[in-house]
Amino acid sequence: MSAPPEAYGPALQRAMAHSMEWLASVPDRPVGPRRDADSLAADFGGPLPDGPTDPAVVVDYLATAAEPGLMAMQSGRFYGWVIGGTLPAAMAADWLVSAWDQNAGMRFATPAVAAAEEAAGAWILELLGLPSGADVGFTTGATMANFTGLAAGRQYLLEQAGWDLAANGLAGGPRIRVFVGQERHDVVDLALRYLGLGAPTAVAVDDQGRIRPDSLEEALASGSGPALICLQAGNVHSGAFDPVGEATAIAHRHGAWVHVDGAFGLWAAASPTYRKHLVGLETADSWATDAHKTLNVPYDCGVAIVARPEVLRGVFGTHASYLIADDHGPGDPHEKVPELSRRARGVPVWAALRSLGRSGVVAMVDRMAGHAGALAAGLAELEDVEVLNDVVFTQVCVSFGSDERTKAVTARLLAGGTTWMSGSRCMAGTSCGFPSVTGRPTTTTWHVRWRQSAALRVRFRP
Ligand SMILES: Cc1ncc(COP(=O)(O)O)c(C=O)c1O
Repeated sequence: MSAPPEAYGPALQRAMAHSMEWLASVPDRPVGPRRDADSLAADFGGPLPDGPTDPAVVVDYLATAAEPGLMAMQSGRFYGWVIGGTLPAAMAADWLVSAWDQNAGMRFATPAVAAAEEAAGAWILELLGLPSGADVGFTTGATMANFTGLAAGRQYLLEQAGWDLAANGLAGGPRIRVFVGQERHDVVDLALRYLGLGAPTAVAVDDQGRIRPDSLEEALASGSGPALICLQAGNVHSGAFDPVGEATAIAHRHGAWVHVDGAFGLWAAASPTYRKHLVGLETADSWATDAHKTLNVPYDCGVAIVARPEVLRGVFGTHASYLIADDHGPGDPHEKVPELSRRARGVPVWAALRSLGRSGVVAMVDRMAGHAGALAAGLAELEDVEVLNDVVFTQVCVSFGSDERTKAVTARLLAGGTTWMSGSRCMAGTSCGFPSVTGRPTTTTWHVRWRQSAALRVRFRP
């Protein structure tokens, strides 16, 4: 430790006081920030101080300078993107993670963190109905969780084709055909770029953005060679779920690896009511989700799940795949994620799950989806308001008429500070029913989250 224990107290006490002040302000404060990054730059910038500043003074300055530039993302009146809030136990556990300052990469180095993360991983598998033998790794978010699952798929497919990726790299090896729905999230393409797999083939989707099984079958049958499929559980616009079981059965008939991007939607599988959207989920080969979205742990935490531990550890273990002696044990955390050193970000997940219990997770998921339905029903009753999607989970996609009117209404709502939601547009060229180049208007997407009571207090004056 570089400072004596007592040197931490005043700064931590100030941080605690500022945290409580912030949290107390969330229910009533305007949701959006009052100042932009350019105007705040001067408050945070200027010349680097020549000498030290008292830590408590630094914390006071930071909290005061930041306050006007913060978005109340954990507010029940914030509906932007698919961002979660923070459960009390998860936030407190996150503070402990900072105080403990563990490098979470190795079991023997930090047994308590490894044990907590292993327990959290096992609970996630149980809740989502995924194979109990799967490996679970904690990443920064769904982007890296998708990267992790797709990396495992790439490794497996090349191994099956007799190509040693670790030894030879990609060049000269068999080309992997990658298929995604037209409405996949952009970060899937990003992960594929990281992996050197290039742009995927986009398969047609229906009017809710769900991949069409017949089109997937056709696409797979139109060529040959290793194939990697990325399905989606929860479309960021509509909340819709790809028909995972059906699509996986087709893909497996063609020897493909199936990965599921369920950044926020995978948690539907925890609910007896909403699991119907994810029939056959457990038959896929890898899955990605976020804990910082639907589970409501503090940023950041994604979850990568791979059904074949030996493949995952062959990719990310810092030893060659052929040297793995025991692929049935829990394995080191660093063998399951891209980083060797990392924060113990699975610990807040453990705390969230321990505090909620099974019934709490189910109630939270059901509450979010239930409120989305109520919000959509309320909006649909207003004149000139059109709910564009089938509200099957947490997403409500709304148009206020023309592009101009939707933008004007949204701008007025945001300026009022009562609420905050994000806009969306379909990717160009898709055939789904959301706003796109085919002429549908810009929409506003409401993502309904855990602290929902405020949702119905939102008033519209379009
Ligand atoms: C379906 C989907 N996949 C992936 C992501 C990326 O997640 P993250 O920002 O945690 O990396 C998102 C984010 O909204 C998403 O909705």
